[in-house]
Amino acid sequence: MEKKTALITGATSGIGKATAIQFAKNGIHLILCGRRQERLDALKNELSPLTEVTTLSFDVRDKEAAFNAIESLPNSFSTIDILINNAGNAHGLDPIQTGSIDDWDAMIDINVKGLLYVSKAIIPKMTERKSGHIINIGSTAGKEVYPNGNVYCASKHAVDAINKAMRIDLNEYGIRVGAVHPGLVETEFSNVRFKGDDERADNVYKGFDPLRPEDIADIIHFMISRPYHVNLADLIVLPTAQASSTIVKKTF
Ligand SMILES: NC(=O)c1ccc[n+]([C@@H]2O[C@H](COP(=O)([O-])OP(=O)(O)OC[C@H]3O[C@@H](n4cnc5c(N)ncnc54)[C@H](OP(=O)(O)O)[C@@H]3O)[C@@H](O)[C@H]2O)c1
Repeated sequence: MEKKTALITGATSGIGKATAIQFAKNGIHLILCGRRQERLDALKNELSPLTEVTTLSFDVRDKEAAFNAIESLPNSFSTIDILINNAGNAHGLDPIQTGSIDDWDAMIDINVKGLLYVSKAIIPKMTERKSGHIINIGSTAGKEVYPNGNVYCASKHAVDAINKAMRIDLNEYGIRVGAVHPGLVETEFSNVRFKGDDERADNVYKGFDPLRPEDIADIIHFMISRPYHVNLADLIVLPTAQASSTIVKKTF
């Protein structure tokens, strides 16, 4: 079978990294993206015995950098069959009246505009070829709103809307578009949200069994390995202990 090539944003950590490992185990060629070059290099070294790997280090907020990076791909990686729009984070957890404008900018610029820039750099070649698969990583925060989640929830509601819009606009080109909306996954997500307050971050996942990044990676691999006529369009994935953004059964 011809090998597919996947570009994964946010491959230096969490869900993106676990997806890269899962894809590599299945022989999918990888374009690993993120800002932290040393982590990209380490992952490339780890996965190179399993598959072809290249890396692109850029900030998704910087549209020129995003376009230049994707444009710079060597021929052997220039046909991108699968795009995993995963890069993103929450920044802060404050009520709307005291929230930081810098945090709001970061979330809108990375989670929404960054996803659009990367998509715009890749989709035209998919429409030309009339094939491709785009998976957008949303969140339960894109399906509901929770206290102090305001702008993060808004950014993920935007991802939910963009996911649906992509599916409509790309329908005539036979491109698959789907989203995974995870609940609580133990990654570096809360360390970023709480700006390095690791104790507060660790507490988010205490007292219950959260999702692991590998759980989401497994589902993403399931989505991309279905026969081409099957498109898993919109998946909400929760740890069993979680019923909604605010209802989590904890043992303490
Ligand atoms: N963890 C959860 O509970 C959870 C729940 C629902 C949805 N999600 C979503 O899942 C996705 C992955 O998050 P995660 O949980 O795996 O968190 P994570 O471990 O913090 O990983 C975030 C990834 O995004 C990349 N990234 C962040 N800002 C970037 C930027 N400006 N430019 C390029 N890359 C950037 C990071 O790479 P660099 O820092 O190297 O650039 C990192 O690889 C996000 O979209 C998040 O919103 C997470």
